[in-house]
Amino acid sequence: MSAQRMSHDNTSLTEIEAKQQLEQLALEIAQHDQAYYNHDDPTISDAQYDALRKKNDALEAQFPHLVRPDSPNKRVGSVVSEQFDKIEHKAPMLSLSNAFSSEDIDEFFARIRRFLSLAENTPVEIYGEPKIDGLSFSALFENGKLVHVATRGNGQVGEDITNNMKTIESFPDVLEGDDIPSAIEIRGEVYMSHDDFISLNQAQEAANKKIFANPRNAAAGSLRQLDPSITASRPLKYFVYGIGLLEGYEPSTQQNMVSMLKHWGFDTNEHTRRCSATDEVMAYYDYMNDLRPTLGYDIDGLVYKVNDIALQQRLGNVTRSPRWAIAHKFPAQKAKTLLEEINIQVGRTGALTPVAYLKPVNVGGVMVSRATLHNQDEIARKDIRVGDTVVIQRAGDVIPQVVSVDIQKRPKDTKEFIFPDHCPVCNGHAIRTEGEAVTRCSNGLMCSAQAVEGLKHFVSKDAFDIEGLGQKQVEEFYNDHIIRTPIDIFKLEERDRQNPLISIAHRDGWGVKSVQKLFDAIRARKEIELDRFIYSLGIRF
Ligand code: IVH
Repeated sequence: MSAQRMSHDNTSLTEIEAKQQLEQLALEIAQHDQAYYNHDDPTISDAQYDALRKKNDALEAQFPHLVRPDSPNKRVGSVVSEQFDKIEHKAPMLSLSNAFSSEDIDEFFARIRRFLSLAENTPVEIYGEPKIDGLSFSALFENGKLVHVATRGNGQVGEDITNNMKTIESFPDVLEGDDIPSAIEIRGEVYMSHDDFISLNQAQEAANKKIFANPRNAAAGSLRQLDPSITASRPLKYFVYGIGLLEGYEPSTQQNMVSMLKHWGFDTNEHTRRCSATDEVMAYYDYMNDLRPTLGYDIDGLVYKVNDIALQQRLGNVTRSPRWAIAHKFPAQKAKTLLEEINIQVGRTGALTPVAYLKPVNVGGVMVSRATLHNQDEIARKDIRVGDTVVIQRAGDVIPQVVSVDIQKRPKDTKEFIFPDHCPVCNGHAIRTEGEAVTRCSNGLMCSAQAVEGLKHFVSKDAFDIEGLGQKQVEEFYNDHIIRTPIDIFKLEERDRQNPLISIAHRDGWGVKSVQKLFDAIRARKEIELDRFIYSLGIRF
């Protein structure tokens, strides 16, 4: 929905309504920020997130006196997690402005020439590099020795991931070769290859652990582990492409700098190219867009940087992005496949989410077999039916989506999808409140799906975090009536003692030792921090 349309809609709002909506939006956006930045597990698409921000901005523009102290606009960039040590970057980590068309590239060159007072057709050489879709880092080396590595964080302060980066085999902690600078911040991106992402998810699924939505989230989730031994078990890779602070060495061009980084022992990307005009840039862009599905890792565009470093310095920055560089984004990767089934998943809050089960298809290197259909309105709007050939899309964010239907390919006997008015799990009434897109099962904890999802949430990492009691165990114990509510968890040991014949130790995969370990872990969680406790209750909003 456009901001214009929103502000038009807002004119009919009373102040009280606007105030309520702003409060609701502040909360909702903060939750999504938390899910994205601190848990590497976004729950909505970038487009849905942008729509929330736009709605908030339109309301704030119309009711400036209602802007909240915790407005999403007063928080900048990502939230710095409380768990890692903080590291202040010596030079800020900037972001890039985006280009989408050849006109944007023309304008990029024109702006540079204007700023440098160059004649209209003076060539400006740029160095093009793939834009790696991963997680950026900054590594400080003093006299050739690694001091620390930090995530980007909010651009000024990041999180200390030194020990995690050290687990990546090809990442040097001592610079090799000559011309070693006295101090240098080396910048790059950690990523996970498509093959490694698929194997990791297979292993996670087998162990009933969290499945990652895409390679970027898998890389981020693997790097931001408080326990480096977990990072060590994850197949991470990296490329370096730039510098922050630099003392005691002066590269003349971006290209020289990158080859110096390689000389010092770092992995650099090979698919770079020098270009001097828009048509050369566009040829490189087309070439890379074709190559993209065969690379084996995700890139979401190209980055063009003025090659001459002296010119880079003259050009400087505009607020938070350099004038000398721009990101040229690729479109989301699409593929067509058969929609074999629509299934309804019931979540912890009873939300009924339709999921498309697809004939597995390769989308830009990653096999996709499921995609979200969001909600009832989305299915109706796109008229998506079982048996349809659908276009699915995988952007750098969240879960693959069904974009549209290929009507030409629709078989004769398809039927419109009827959204259930009963919960597919407990058969309770499914209700859609007016003005909401979500349909919910009304049975609360009487619905086994909600009860078991609630229990999974209760024991999850940020809640009670009970070792040995994961998603899989909770599901089994729930089905066998051993744990039906959180209280049962804390009565488990007593139950076992009183009924030795049905001790958990007799169950498949359990023994006396592992059961004792579980009881110890539960006992250790009889007292927890208040914030964890409140979170564990999973109160909506
Ligand atoms: S240059 C001042 N080069 O893209 C220049 N960034 O949107 C800033 N990225 O935070 C970065 N590949 O995480 C640069 N070859 C590349 C890149 C790259 C990926 C990421 C990086 C940055 C983001 C900017």
